[in-house]
Amino acid sequence: MATILKAENLEKIYRVGKVDVPALRGVSLAAQEGEFVAVMGPSGCGKSTMLHLLGGLLTPTRGRIVVDGEDLTAASDAKRTDIRRRKIGFVFQRFNLFPTLTAEGNLRLAERIHGNGADDILRMLRLEDKMHHKPLELSGGEQQRVALARAVVNRPAIVLADEPTGNLDSENSALVLKMFRELNDRFNQTIIMITHNPEAAAACQRVIQMRDGHIV
Ligand SMILES: Nc1ncnc2c1ncn2[C@@H]1O[C@H](COP(=O)(O)OP(=O)(O)O)[C@@H](O)[C@H]1O
Ligand SMILES: [Mg+2]
Repeated sequence: MATILKAENLEKIYRVGKVDVPALRGVSLAAQEGEFVAVMGPSGCGKSTMLHLLGGLLTPTRGRIVVDGEDLTAASDAKRTDIRRRKIGFVFQRFNLFPTLTAEGNLRLAERIHGNGADDILRMLRLEDKMHHKPLELSGGEQQRVALARAVVNRPAIVLADEPTGNLDSENSALVLKMFRELNDRFNQTIIMITHNPEAAAACQRVIQMRDGHIV
């Protein structure tokens, strides 16, 4: 198996006023093509910070990140955005859909940015009937499926998910997890998913435990 994502000695210090808040204190990890990894750990231990660094939404204070052979940390802002668009899909706890666009509109927008694939994905996630609904006309579970569809519309090599089932009831959690697994199987996408849900973690091939800015 090939390594698709590699992080070395990542440190992140947030500056709040005059105070330094160390959020990551030297994290190294590697993920392989097609791997499905869970990240667990108490609130505030640095999980979201790590995910945002891995996806190029934030830059580390120190350390190096290589995505599919491309060095994110050495890249300019424009280059980093470009790598992120081509290689990475994000799913968040709060769905983050555009409220004024329908399900289809949210996907078409992503498709315009990213390329083809919306129809296939809508069918796969069983959302054909909901295409013309706006987010507020959808259940939480349906919104998260649209968000998942949007994240994978251009078949990114890596999907990063931050507590994707955190706002869902158990039935919808199970459905969304099943879809993550299907995407992982069908497209061999590498998935890194932060979760507090032991059932979700059990569905993954590997669990990374974090504590106080470290992987333990
Ligand atoms: N934008 C920010 N500015 C300042 N401190 C932050 C910011 N984001 C997170 N932190 C702090 O960094 C630490 C790690 O936060 P986070 O990565 O969100 O943890 P987790 O996702 O595990 O709950 C916490 O102490 C948090 O308060
Ligand atoms: Mg978090």
